[in-house]
Amino acid sequence: MSNDRPEGKWDPGQYLRYGGHRLRPAIELFQRIDLDEPSICYDIGCGAGEIAIAMTQRWPSAKVIGLDASAEMLAKSRSAAGGNNVEWVEADIVGWAPEKPADVIYSNAALHWVDGHDTLFPHLMQQLAPGGVLAVQMPLSWGQASHRLLREVLANGNNGEGYGSAELRQGVGRKWVDDGDVYFDRLRPYANHIDIWECHYLQELSGDDPVLEWVKGSALRPVLTALGETAASAFLAEYGSVLRDAYPKRSDGATLFPFGRLFMIAQRS
Ligand SMILES: C[S@@+](CC[C@H](N)C(=O)[O-])C[C@H]1O[C@@H](n2cnc3c(N)ncnc32)[C@H](O)[C@@H]1O
Repeated sequence: MSNDRPEGKWDPGQYLRYGGHRLRPAIELFQRIDLDEPSICYDIGCGAGEIAIAMTQRWPSAKVIGLDASAEMLAKSRSAAGGNNVEWVEADIVGWAPEKPADVIYSNAALHWVDGHDTLFPHLMQQLAPGGVLAVQMPLSWGQASHRLLREVLANGNNGEGYGSAELRQGVGRKWVDDGDVYFDRLRPYANHIDIWECHYLQELSGDDPVLEWVKGSALRPVLTALGETAASAFLAEYGSVLRDAYPKRSDGATLFPFGRLFMIAQRS
């Protein structure tokens, strides 16, 4: 993915540093898809490709396509064990439509990077064959301390001058994910069954500054991409310090990082 994308350049190594915690909701969502033999399955925003590959194992006769805008992430997917069984496509979710109606459109931790959910979710439902399933998980991190502090340091840090451009702050500050009932209304006209739920994980992280390292793998991508090296290092020092206060390391060495996620499964009528 080039650096001019709104979410910045993805680094699979940094993202997968906490792979276990990040993969768990992906698997939990995948397991809730109640279809026996789908024919055409997409993982959009597939990242390093674990779930697209899992689809080929669960549904061996299906055609599975993993789509992502990041060349770095797709390179990781292609080289993974089982990666040969998936068709990998470098493309943007914005404006995407499958060649034929899909039986599964799955997306884990990706659609919050895409604007315009008012039209995106109805559009995705319309790309499904009758009985097909849209399965989505997005983080509910916008309101938690890590992301609130990110916005505060960007706006008021650097001795009150802030960091980065107004455009960057606005992009990082936008509320990514709406409440569940809003998605219910978006999906309802196209669905005969909708299941929406939230899950709050009390994540145990280890090491020094683990919350900073976590955020570096996701929400900080656009910030680190946009700030020059000097500003980025000053920003990281300041943000890291307030994160350490908000998420102190316990005497046993662990840092607890509570994290909420919104899940939804909708079946096309
Ligand atoms: C947080 S990662 C999640 C990856 C994977 N689904 C997982 O759960 O591990 C977000 C992924 O969404 C992709 N992405 C974000 N915006 C996108 C867009 N507009 N079009 C295609 N892919 C996008 C990124 O390139 C990245 O690989």
